[in-house]
Amino acid sequence: MPATSANSQSIGLQKSELETPALCLDIAAYQRNVARMASFIIGQCGLKWRPHMKGQKAVELAQHAVRAGAIGVTCATVYEAEAMVDAGVSEILLANQVAGDRKARRLARLQRLATVISATDSAAHLEILSRAALAEQVTIPVILELDVGMGRCGVVCGKPAVDLGLVAERMPGIELLGLMGWEGHILKYDPEEKKRQAQSAMQALVETAAMFRKEGLRAEVVSAAGSGTFLVSAPVAGLTEIQAGGGVFSDLSYQKWGLEHEFALTVLTRVVSRPSPTRVLVDGGFKTMSYCHGYPEPLGVGAVKSLVLSAEHGNIELAEPNDSLRVGDPVEFVPGYTDSTVCLHDEMCVLRDGVVEAVWGIPGRSGRR
Ligand SMILES: Cc1ncc(COP(=O)(O)O)c(C=O)c1O
Repeated sequence: MPATSANSQSIGLQKSELETPALCLDIAAYQRNVARMASFIIGQCGLKWRPHMKGQKAVELAQHAVRAGAIGVTCATVYEAEAMVDAGVSEILLANQVAGDRKARRLARLQRLATVISATDSAAHLEILSRAALAEQVTIPVILELDVGMGRCGVVCGKPAVDLGLVAERMPGIELLGLMGWEGHILKYDPEEKKRQAQSAMQALVETAAMFRKEGLRAEVVSAAGSGTFLVSAPVAGLTEIQAGGGVFSDLSYQKWGLEHEFALTVLTRVVSRPSPTRVLVDGGFKTMSYCHGYPEPLGVGAVKSLVLSAEHGNIELAEPNDSLRVGDPVEFVPGYTDSTVCLHDEMCVLRDGVVEAVWGIPGRSGRR
């Protein structure tokens, strides 16, 4: 925890006593969301769960997920993976391509402490990983990322993927374990269409896995799905593991994408000015709450006509006059998207029944990747 941390000495305080702005986790709601995901993914679908930590960050959350049945975690950056390994997580999937020799060497060095599988989607990238593995005298396990329709990274499904699999298999210092696909393009669809789209995206992944096996390539890991898709993707036969992570917090974006989880993560702000009966200024703006994928929503202030976020201010225009909110009163927000909100904070205040139980650091949130 940084020495300057605003709330590091807040254990035992009521939520309303926190210094604001403060990122707050309702630990009981979080644990119920974890239990929901573990029960569906592991219990009902019989799959492994490797929750994505790109938005959760705090290593204590990874440790809890593992205790709840996760096999390990998914990370977006080498720095996140390093933090997880430091915290004792031994099974990690780095679901992004790491470029640059120095960073690839960091990924290679992690292999001495844990299994850190890397996504890859090109021979050029495999060469970077191979060089790093040979230099560090380790083997880097990889899975091929397939483009299952999102149009981001990923090799084309079918024969191009098999051809790249053959390249990976021959590459020194590389161990091919399987495939992954992230069907992020289907988040926006209504439930029926999403189900159809999930079926087709997951089918492309699973059929390519079958082609791998026919060719003698390993496909023991077939990994996919996020918090806005796992309910429709996980039931498709042939996957082995699910990456969904952010649903343990939930937020207005996941709600929009069809997830009915509790809002476990909020941002606590405080009223700093009341210029008129319909206007409320709070001490949290876009440096505190992201509006990527949608604006946050203040709780308990009545109907909101508009919300403008400047750097340090949230400027709320109420639909009706409200004289009860006074300067200094707390106002809590549900994030529009937790993934892009957590990374704006140094610490997460963990609350049980409204009392601070712990304060966790948020590693890997800023420039270090
Ligand atoms: C590779 C990958 N897998 C899974 C996900 C879903 O993550 P989450 O469940 O946290 O929304 C994402 C989201 O961006 C992703 O990039």
